[in-house]
Parts: sequence; C-alpha cells; structure tokens
Amino acid sequence: MLAPVLKSVGCISLACSFIFSAVAQADVSVKIHDDRPGATINKNIYGQFAEHLGRGIYEGIWVGPDSKIPNTRGFRNDVIAALKELRVPLIRWPGGCFADEYHWRNGIGPREKRAVTVNTSWGGVTDNNAFGTHEFFELAEMLGAEVYINGNLGTGTPQEMAEWLEYMTSPSDSTLANLRRQNGRQEPWKVHYFAIGNETWGCGGNMTPEYYANLYKHYATFLKTPEDNRPELIASGGYEHLTEWTETLMKNVQPNWSLRMNGIGHHYYTLPLSDWEKKGRAIQFPEKEWLMTFTRTLKIEDYIKANTEIMDKYDPEKKVGFYVDEWGTWYDTEEGDNPGFLHQQNTIRDALVAALNLNIFHKYADRVRMTNIAQMVNVLQAMILTDGEKMLLTPTYHVFKMYIPFQQATYLPLDIKGNREYKLGDHSAPQVSASAAKTTDGKVVLALTNIHPTSKIDITLDGNWKRADGQILTAKNMDSHNTFDKKNEVAPKAFSAQKKGKQFTVTVPAKSVVVVELK
Ligand code: AHR
Repeated sequence: MLAPVLKSVGCISLACSFIFSAVAQADVSVKIHDDRPGATINKNIYGQFAEHLGRGIYEGIWVGPDSKIPNTRGFRNDVIAALKELRVPLIRWPGGCFADEYHWRNGIGPREKRAVTVNTSWGGVTDNNAFGTHEFFELAEMLGAEVYINGNLGTGTPQEMAEWLEYMTSPSDSTLANLRRQNGRQEPWKVHYFAIGNETWGCGGNMTPEYYANLYKHYATFLKTPEDNRPELIASGGYEHLTEWTETLMKNVQPNWSLRMNGIGHHYYTLPLSDWEKKGRAIQFPEKEWLMTFTRTLKIEDYIKANTEIMDKYDPEKKVGFYVDEWGTWYDTEEGDNPGFLHQQNTIRDALVAALNLNIFHKYADRVRMTNIAQMVNVLQAMILTDGEKMLLTPTYHVFKMYIPFQQATYLPLDIKGNREYKLGDHSAPQVSASAAKTTDGKVVLALTNIHPTSKIDITLDGNWKRADGQILTAKNMDSHNTFDKKNEVAPKAFSAQKKGKQFTVTVPAKSVVVVELK
C-alpha cells in the first residue's frame, strides 16, 4: 500500500498549513449521512463545572478587586478573556460535594462582613465567601453563560433551598427580593438549571435511591419560582455503570410531572487505572496507561445507553434529560500538591479524552442535552491553569474551542468502516473516533481523532466532498503539555485537505484531533 504524500505549504508561526494528496488506498472510511439529520446538539453539552475546590474559584477566577493580578471588579482579566473566546454556554456552581455544605446566606452582603467557613470537602481550608451568589451571576453575565446552581440537600433544609430560589428569582416586594436589591441586584436573575443535591449516594448524604427519591419529592414541592423563570430541576443520579438511580427516579418521581424532574445528573470520571487508590499519573505515564485511559473513557457510551434505555421505557417522549453533569480525567495528585486541591497537568491525552467524550455526547444528543466537564480552572481536567499571575491554556481548552461549531448544530449520523483496533497487551480500543454535524449556518463540520500514539491513519471520506479546512491539535509525546514557560507546546494549527483523483483521503497523524469544515 502506498503512503499518502504530505506536502507542507508553509508555516507562519503557529499556523502551519498542510495539503494531503490522495495517492494511497485508505484503509478506513467515513460516510456522513447528511440526509438523515438527528437531534440538535445542545450547546450546554459544552458546560463547565466551577466548584469551591482548591484554586478553582479563588485565584483561578476570583482574585478580588485589590489584587495585583489585573482584574475587573475582582475577576482576573486573563482568565475571563480566555473563557470568553471559548463561548462557555453554561457554568455549574458551587459544587460538587461542596454544595451540600454551602449555606447561601454566607455569600451575600458586604464582603468584609461575610462569614469565614471551612471547606471540609476539599483540603479543610477556609473560605471567606468573597465569591457568592452575586459574584457567580456576574461571572456568568461576563461570559454570556447560562447558570446551573446546585442546591444544598445534605445539610440544608427545604426552607433554605426555597429561599435561595426566591432571593434569586422573585420580582416581588418580599423581604428576600428586597435584600437582593439592597445587595446590588435590582432585577431577578434567570436561573436555568437547579439541582436538588449532588452525589447523594456518597458525599451528598450516602443515601439509597429510594430514600433520595422521596427527599427529591419533598424538596421539589417547595421550590416555587415565577412561571416565566422556572429552572430545569435536576435530580442527583448515579455514577459510572449504575442504573438503579435512573430506574428509581424515573419510576417514582417522573410520573408526577408537577415535581418537574427535568433531568437526571450522572457522573463519570476517567481514571486510567480504574482504582481510586491508584488512579495513574497525569504525566510520565506508560503507553499501557495511555490506552487504558481511552478504553475507560469509551465505556461512557455503554453507561449512557443503559441509562437512556431505562428512560425511554418511562419517558418515550424524552422530556427528561440525561445530564452527565461531571465528567473528565482524574489522576493522582503529584508530590508537593495538596491532595485536597485536585490539581493536575493536562496533556494531549486529555485533549483526546475530551474529543472522545464530546463525540459520544453528540451521538446521544436527543437525551444528553447538558454536561459539565470537571472543572473550569486549576481543578481536574481544567481548561486553564494558573500560578499566581501566570496563566496557560490546556490542550483540553483547545479541543473545546475547536468544537465550538458543534454547539447548537444538528447531529449527522456517520459510519466508520474498517476502523482499526489499537491494541497493547490485553487492552484495545478503536483507533478512530468521529462526529459530524450541520452547523447553525448550514456548514458540515467533521471531527476526527486518532488515539494511536505512533501511527497516522488514512481516512477516506465517502461522498461528494472536495475540501476540508479547519484545525489540528497534535503533539510530539504522549504527555506533551503546556507549561508557563512553554505555553504553546500543544496548540492548534491550520489543517487542510483536498480531493485529488477519485478518492478523498485525509491523513490524521498519531495522537491528534482534527476539526474541519467540509465543502
Ligand atoms: O469534581 C470533584 C468532585 O467529584 C465533586 O465535588 C463531586 O461531586 C465528585 O465526586
């Protein structure tokens, strides 16, 4: 078999452009069914999670108005500018485990008078509550993002939860609405999503599904907002392979539509070694862990299928969403890092994990209408890392940016024929993953990933396509990453391919994500 010829047509700083000629018989082919459009890929699939955890909120987003780090009313300028570029559609706050000990009244009013509390979930550090409800909404407004607030079920009461919603959404002359006005916000805010508890099977209270289903009904009964400002209510669901949370909630809560269970939140993290005691390192890992990271990531498709099949049984109209409201990689913390802060490096491997997950979410877009990567800054699979005044964009950030055209696009099913298995020892995973969609302005966009660490792959595009133009994210090593000294070690470059002869072959280099518009 002939190898395709790669001709570089010049590099200007980071923007290299490649033309791939079709001179080889490609071994994998992709056929996009643009005549069978599927569901809309809700932009909120690209949601992000921002918890009071480590340096996620404090330092990562909020430095306070008196900081030497350049900021606007306390929000660091560099991070806000980078997030604006990313068109973040949705932010989930204040946790996570943190949410079930968060008492919202601690985070309103003059900052110097706010209570100092202990973050018992994450490192036992103190939180001066400088970032509270008003600051969160200001962040969302700066980014043009919708908001997802997680209520405190674990240590709060139905009254506290209901009053938080009243504070945020009431247009009335009530004491709480006037307190909001006194604290600087005249008009009610729009709350798009509101969760009743988090991980109620674990840090949120170690409950059984049946016990939680009753609590959900109890709390939801009292969550009253104006008719035109009703958030989607999210029930705390299961994790990984579990289906009993979905089954119990669909059976016991969903039929009572007045309780408005609009979505079930499910959590799934990629731990390369599938072991919470020894998860695997973020950098300097062996090839076996590289591959195991992908096999573990890809399992999410089975878990989505199993849960959504149950939902289809109770709710064939798909009124209730299956929301993966926490996902991403989770590695061992490095020596010297506070283990309670969940700080980790982010490599080309994380970029590929992000692309694989997003491709799967697109496929189930009819039910998976919202997800949140964990987390936004400095925590787990972050978009951005900071160190004091320094900031860098991670490979995951770049994938999210390359995938922007998929937000609100129409899913287009595709077939991958002849996909190769990348194998090592007992582990194996399909080498190519792909996703296609028709964008809101009528363009066809295609994402292709090659997870093989050393072999490129030739992919034939079936159909009438003549050109593919977009970007590629690739790297030299399996753990290539950006540092504060080398911020562009892993950064997107221009990518083009065009039909030559009878076939249209795109060569996707080892360890890369390509997103192109097809013409
Ligand atoms: O994202 C970190 C933690 O992971 C969240 O607080 C919790 O919900 C999950 O276990």
